[in-house]
Amino acid sequence: MPSIEACLFDLDGVIVDTAKYHYIAWRQLANDLGFDLTHAQNELLKGISRMESLEIILALGGVKLTDEEKLQRATEKNSRYLALCMQMTPADTLPGVRAFLDELKKGGIKTGLGSASKNAKVILERIDMLSYFETIVDGNRITIGKPDPQVFLMGAADLAALPAQCVVFEDALAGIQSAKAAGMLAVGIGEKAVLTQADIVIPGFADFHFQDMEAAFA
Ligand code: G6P
Ligand code: MG
Repeated sequence: MPSIEACLFDLDGVIVDTAKYHYIAWRQLANDLGFDLTHAQNELLKGISRMESLEIILALGGVKLTDEEKLQRATEKNSRYLALCMQMTPADTLPGVRAFLDELKKGGIKTGLGSASKNAKVILERIDMLSYFETIVDGNRITIGKPDPQVFLMGAADLAALPAQCVVFEDALAGIQSAKAAGMLAVGIGEKAVLTQADIVIPGFADFHFQDMEAAFA
Protein backbone atom coordinates (compact mmCIF):
# COMPACT_ATOMS: atom_id res chain seq x y z
CA MET A 1 0.00 0.00 0.00
CA PRO A 2 1.57 3.35 -1.00
CA SER A 3 1.77 6.03 1.70
CA ILE A 4 -0.96 8.66 1.87
CA GLU A 5 -0.04 11.89 0.12
CA ALA A 6 -3.30 13.84 0.00
CA CYS A 7 -6.75 13.96 1.56
CA LEU A 8 -9.77 15.22 -0.40
CA PHE A 9 -12.88 16.35 1.43
CA ASP A 10 -16.48 16.68 0.35
CA LEU A 11 -18.10 19.81 1.86
CA ASP A 12 -21.80 19.33 2.64
CA GLY A 13 -22.19 16.73 5.39
CA VAL A 14 -18.44 16.32 5.92
CA ILE A 15 -17.08 19.77 6.82
CA VAL A 16 -20.39 21.39 7.71
CA ASP A 17 -24.02 20.31 8.01
CA THR A 18 -25.60 22.30 5.22
CA ALA A 19 -27.85 19.36 4.25
CA LYS A 20 -30.52 20.69 6.64
CA TYR A 21 -30.59 24.02 4.78
CA HIS A 22 -30.72 22.33 1.37
CA TYR A 23 -33.71 20.36 2.68
CA ILE A 24 -35.57 23.43 3.96
CA ALA A 25 -35.05 25.27 0.64
CA TRP A 26 -35.93 22.29 -1.59
CA ARG A 27 -38.98 21.51 0.54
CA GLN A 28 -40.19 25.09 0.17
CA LEU A 29 -39.80 24.78 -3.62
CA ALA A 30 -41.80 21.52 -3.60
CA ASN A 31 -44.49 23.09 -1.38
CA ASP A 32 -44.70 26.09 -3.75
CA LEU A 33 -45.38 23.60 -6.55
CA GLY A 34 -48.07 21.81 -4.51
CA PHE A 35 -46.35 18.74 -3.08
CA ASP A 36 -44.14 17.76 -0.15
CA LEU A 37 -40.57 16.48 0.02
CA THR A 38 -39.81 13.91 2.70
CA HIS A 39 -36.56 13.59 4.59
CA ALA A 40 -35.97 10.20 2.93
CA GLN A 41 -36.45 11.74 -0.53
CA ASN A 42 -33.99 14.48 0.41
CA GLU A 43 -31.36 11.78 1.07
CA LEU A 44 -31.42 11.00 -2.67
CA LEU A 45 -30.08 14.50 -3.35
CA LYS A 46 -26.86 14.27 -1.34
CA GLY A 47 -23.85 14.91 -3.56
CA ILE A 48 -26.08 15.63 -6.58
CA SER A 49 -25.81 18.98 -8.42
CA ARG A 50 -28.45 21.71 -8.11
CA MET A 51 -30.07 21.20 -11.53
CA GLU A 52 -29.98 17.39 -11.28
CA SER A 53 -31.54 17.65 -7.82
CA LEU A 54 -34.30 19.85 -9.25
CA GLU A 55 -35.01 17.26 -11.97
CA ILE A 56 -35.29 14.51 -9.33
CA ILE A 57 -37.65 16.63 -7.19
CA LEU A 58 -39.87 17.55 -10.17
CA ALA A 59 -40.09 13.87 -11.12
CA LEU A 60 -41.05 12.98 -7.53
CA GLY A 61 -43.85 15.57 -7.62
CA GLY A 62 -44.89 14.73 -11.18
CA VAL A 63 -44.41 18.38 -12.18
CA LYS A 64 -43.26 19.52 -15.62
CA LEU A 65 -41.59 22.94 -16.09
CA THR A 66 -40.01 24.73 -19.03
CA ASP A 67 -36.24 25.24 -18.99
CA GLU A 68 -36.78 28.90 -18.12
CA GLU A 69 -39.08 28.02 -15.20
CA LYS A 70 -36.55 25.45 -13.97
CA LEU A 71 -33.81 28.05 -13.94
CA GLN A 72 -36.07 30.51 -12.09
CA ARG A 73 -37.04 27.93 -9.43
CA ALA A 74 -33.42 26.81 -8.98
CA THR A 75 -32.28 30.43 -8.57
CA GLU A 76 -35.03 31.04 -6.03
CA LYS A 77 -34.07 27.88 -4.12
CA ASN A 78 -30.44 28.96 -4.08
CA SER A 79 -31.29 32.41 -2.70
CA ARG A 80 -33.28 30.82 0.14
CA TYR A 81 -30.49 28.29 0.76
CA LEU A 82 -27.80 31.00 0.89
CA ALA A 83 -29.88 33.17 3.23
CA LEU A 84 -30.01 30.20 5.64
CA CYS A 85 -26.27 29.52 5.21
CA MET A 86 -25.49 33.13 6.12
CA GLN A 87 -26.67 32.34 9.66
CA MET A 88 -23.72 29.97 10.07
CA THR A 89 -20.58 30.83 12.02
CA PRO A 90 -17.22 29.03 12.43
CA ALA A 91 -18.88 27.16 15.35
CA ASP A 92 -21.00 25.30 12.77
CA THR A 93 -17.96 23.42 11.45
CA LEU A 94 -18.63 19.76 12.27
CA PRO A 95 -16.95 18.42 15.45
CA GLY A 96 -13.28 17.42 15.06
CA VAL A 97 -12.91 18.67 11.47
CA ARG A 98 -10.58 21.59 12.22
CA ALA A 99 -8.39 19.49 14.55
CA PHE A 100 -8.15 16.68 11.97
CA LEU A 101 -7.10 19.10 9.23
CA ASP A 102 -4.50 20.62 11.59
CA GLU A 103 -3.12 17.11 12.19
CA LEU A 104 -2.89 16.50 8.44
CA LYS A 105 -0.95 19.75 7.98
CA LYS A 106 1.49 18.74 10.73
CA GLY A 107 1.84 15.32 9.09
CA GLY A 108 2.73 16.92 5.73
CA ILE A 109 -0.43 15.67 4.00
CA LYS A 110 -1.86 17.83 1.22
CA THR A 111 -5.52 18.81 1.47
CA GLY A 112 -8.20 19.60 -1.09
CA LEU A 113 -11.95 20.11 -1.36
CA GLY A 114 -14.08 18.17 -3.85
CA SER A 115 -17.69 19.33 -3.88
CA ALA A 116 -20.57 19.52 -6.35
CA SER A 117 -21.60 22.82 -4.76
CA LYS A 118 -21.29 26.12 -6.60
CA ASN A 119 -21.45 27.80 -3.19
CA ALA A 120 -18.42 25.98 -1.75
CA LYS A 121 -16.13 29.01 -1.42
CA VAL A 122 -18.84 31.25 0.09
CA ILE A 123 -19.64 28.57 2.68
CA LEU A 124 -15.97 27.93 3.51
CA GLU A 125 -15.47 31.68 3.98
CA ARG A 126 -18.52 31.83 6.22
CA ILE A 127 -17.13 29.15 8.57
CA ASP A 128 -13.57 30.51 8.22
CA MET A 129 -12.21 27.30 6.63
CA LEU A 130 -11.09 28.59 3.21
CA SER A 131 -7.40 28.63 4.15
CA TYR A 132 -7.44 24.93 5.18
CA PHE A 133 -7.53 23.68 1.58
CA GLU A 134 -4.70 23.90 -0.93
CA THR A 135 -7.11 23.40 -3.80
CA ILE A 136 -10.86 23.71 -4.25
CA VAL A 137 -12.69 21.76 -6.93
CA ASP A 138 -16.32 22.84 -6.84
CA GLY A 139 -19.48 22.87 -8.93
CA ASN A 140 -18.13 25.79 -10.96
CA ARG A 141 -15.17 23.75 -12.19
CA ILE A 142 -16.54 20.27 -12.88
CA THR A 143 -18.39 19.33 -16.05
CA ILE A 144 -19.77 16.01 -14.78
CA GLY A 145 -20.95 15.30 -11.26
CA LYS A 146 -20.48 12.48 -8.75
CA PRO A 147 -20.51 9.43 -9.11
CA ASP A 148 -18.16 10.33 -12.00
CA PRO A 149 -14.58 10.50 -10.66
CA GLN A 150 -13.79 13.88 -12.32
CA VAL A 151 -14.09 16.02 -9.17
CA PHE A 152 -11.56 13.99 -7.18
CA LEU A 153 -9.21 13.35 -10.12
CA MET A 154 -9.03 17.13 -10.65
CA GLY A 155 -8.26 17.57 -6.95
CA ALA A 156 -5.46 14.98 -7.08
CA ALA A 157 -4.02 16.59 -10.23
CA ASP A 158 -4.07 20.05 -8.59
CA LEU A 159 -2.13 18.61 -5.65
CA ALA A 160 0.20 16.58 -7.91
CA ALA A 161 -0.80 13.43 -6.00
CA LEU A 162 -1.33 9.95 -7.41
CA PRO A 163 -4.97 8.81 -7.07
CA ALA A 164 -3.86 5.64 -5.26
CA GLN A 165 -2.22 7.86 -2.63
CA CYS A 166 -5.37 9.94 -2.01
CA VAL A 167 -8.00 9.43 0.68
CA VAL A 168 -11.48 10.84 0.09
CA PHE A 169 -13.89 11.76 2.91
CA GLU A 170 -17.52 11.58 1.79
CA ASP A 171 -21.00 11.34 3.30
CA ALA A 172 -22.88 10.53 0.08
CA LEU A 173 -23.12 7.23 -1.74
CA ALA A 174 -22.54 9.02 -5.06
CA GLY A 175 -19.38 10.56 -3.58
CA ILE A 176 -17.99 7.23 -2.37
CA GLN A 177 -18.64 5.80 -5.84
CA SER A 178 -16.82 8.78 -7.34
CA ALA A 179 -13.79 8.20 -5.07
CA LYS A 180 -13.63 4.48 -5.84
CA ALA A 181 -13.99 5.14 -9.59
CA ALA A 182 -11.00 7.50 -9.23
CA GLY A 183 -8.97 4.65 -7.71
CA MET A 184 -8.77 6.33 -4.29
CA LEU A 185 -9.28 5.17 -0.73
CA ALA A 186 -12.70 6.18 0.60
CA VAL A 187 -13.70 7.03 4.15
CA GLY A 188 -17.47 7.18 4.58
CA ILE A 189 -18.86 9.70 7.05
CA GLY A 190 -22.13 8.26 8.30
CA GLU A 191 -23.55 4.76 8.44
CA LYS A 192 -21.99 1.51 7.16
CA ALA A 193 -25.39 0.26 5.99
CA VAL A 194 -25.69 3.24 3.60
CA LEU A 195 -22.07 3.76 2.54
CA THR A 196 -21.50 0.12 1.60
CA GLN A 197 -18.73 0.81 -0.94
CA ALA A 198 -16.51 2.82 1.44
CA ASP A 199 -13.24 1.25 2.61
CA ILE A 200 -14.03 2.31 6.17
CA VAL A 201 -16.95 4.22 7.70
CA ILE A 202 -16.73 6.57 10.68
CA PRO A 203 -19.54 8.57 12.33
CA GLY A 204 -17.51 11.81 12.13
CA PHE A 205 -14.15 13.35 12.98
CA ALA A 206 -14.71 13.77 16.73
CA ASP A 207 -12.80 10.56 17.59
CA PHE A 208 -10.79 10.15 14.40
CA HIS A 209 -7.14 11.12 14.22
CA PHE A 210 -4.26 11.12 11.76
CA GLN A 211 -2.87 7.91 13.31
CA ASP A 212 -6.27 6.18 12.97
CA MET A 213 -6.25 6.95 9.24
CA GLU A 214 -2.69 5.69 8.84
CA ALA A 215 -3.55 2.52 10.79
CA ALA A 216 -6.70 1.92 8.70
CA PHE A 217 -4.76 2.04 5.43
CA ALA A 218 -1.41 0.55 6.57
C1 G6P B 1 -23.61 19.09 -2.61
C2 G6P B 1 -24.86 18.73 -1.82
C3 G6P B 1 -26.07 18.65 -2.72
C4 G6P B 1 -26.19 19.93 -3.55
C5 G6P B 1 -24.93 20.15 -4.37
C6 G6P B 1 -24.98 21.43 -5.19
O1 G6P B 1 -23.19 18.00 -3.33
O2 G6P B 1 -24.68 17.48 -1.16
O3 G6P B 1 -27.21 18.46 -1.93
O4 G6P B 1 -27.32 19.87 -4.41
O5 G6P B 1 -23.82 20.20 -3.49
O6 G6P B 1 -24.99 22.52 -4.31
P1 G6P B 1 -25.22 24.03 -4.71
O7 G6P B 1 -24.74 24.77 -3.48
O8 G6P B 1 -24.38 24.33 -5.91
O9 G6P B 1 -26.66 24.21 -5.00
MG1 MG C 1 -21.82 15.59 1.03
